[in-house]
Amino acid sequence: MNIVITGASRGLGAALAERFAAPGCDIGLIGRDAAALAAVAARCVAQGATTRVGLVDVRDGAAMAGLLGEWDAAKPIDLAIANAGVTGGRQADGTMDGIAGARRLVETNLLGAMHLAEPLIPLMQGRRRGAIGLISSLAALRGMPDHPAYCASKAGVLAYGEGLRAALRGDGITVSVVLPGYFDTALDAHWTGAKPLALPLAVMADRVAAALRAGRGRCFIPWRLGLLLRLLALLPSPLGDRLIGLQRLTYRP
Ligand SMILES: NC(=O)c1ccc[n+]([C@@H]2O[C@H](COP(=O)([O-])OP(=O)(O)OC[C@H]3O[C@@H](n4cnc5c(N)ncnc54)[C@H](OP(=O)(O)O)[C@@H]3O)[C@@H](O)[C@H]2O)c1
Repeated sequence: MNIVITGASRGLGAALAERFAAPGCDIGLIGRDAAALAAVAARCVAQGATTRVGLVDVRDGAAMAGLLGEWDAAKPIDLAIANAGVTGGRQADGTMDGIAGARRLVETNLLGAMHLAEPLIPLMQGRRRGAIGLISSLAALRGMPDHPAYCASKAGVLAYGEGLRAALRGDGITVSVVLPGYFDTALDAHWTGAKPLALPLAVMADRVAAALRAGRGRCFIPWRLGLLLRLLALLPSPLGDRLIGLQRLTYRP
């Protein structure tokens, strides 16, 4: 099995790489931190996998397309996981993302996912085989007051993935959209405040890997928080706004 993972240098991406690493598996690790990617690659190799490292910023569509074309020609990609992500939001002094911060979030989280999926879709269609996994967030389900631009970027990933899944149904391509809640990583450490139903990274990685292996179309982890947020999204906006406003977080850059 040949896999590509963006944001593989740490956190969920690195943990997923280690969960898939096994003899007969080739893993393409994409990120910007060469030393961290080399360490993840070494752990995957120790488990019997072969690896490739791509030092690419997912915001650079041309570089992503070039790398993926090269990798796919050498070893056709079976599973592509769009995981790279950044966060942002309201800081302690009340500062919000502004347009520059919002652009960084949308370009990395949403366009970055598209930069992985789009070059591979025609190649997978040609083979009538392949799987795409998109890491969204439960924050996609209901805009939250302390990180509206992050929520928008992840809602974009959810909508894009749902659309792709329906579009590619007859082409032999599986599209999975995974919506995780809180789990402990460098990204999560940017936030202080209550994090209901937070999971350890290892538990989250096990569940995400299982969802991707099973080719689940849409997966909320943990499902109870997903259900709560979906119900919140159905409420009339004044009531929904009041309830979502009970959960406040502060972002530290
Ligand atoms: N942690 C949570 O509570 C949580 C909750 C819901 C959803 N998620 C989502 O889960 C995914 C993984 O997050 P995480 O918590 O594991 O975060 P993390 O530990 O901060 O890892 C993020 C990864 O993304 C990479 N990355 C960021 N910007 C990039 C860019 N422009 N180009 C290439 N790679 C880039 C980072 O690599 P380099 O910086 O080395 O390039 C790193 O490998 C993200 O999409 C995140 O939004 C996280």
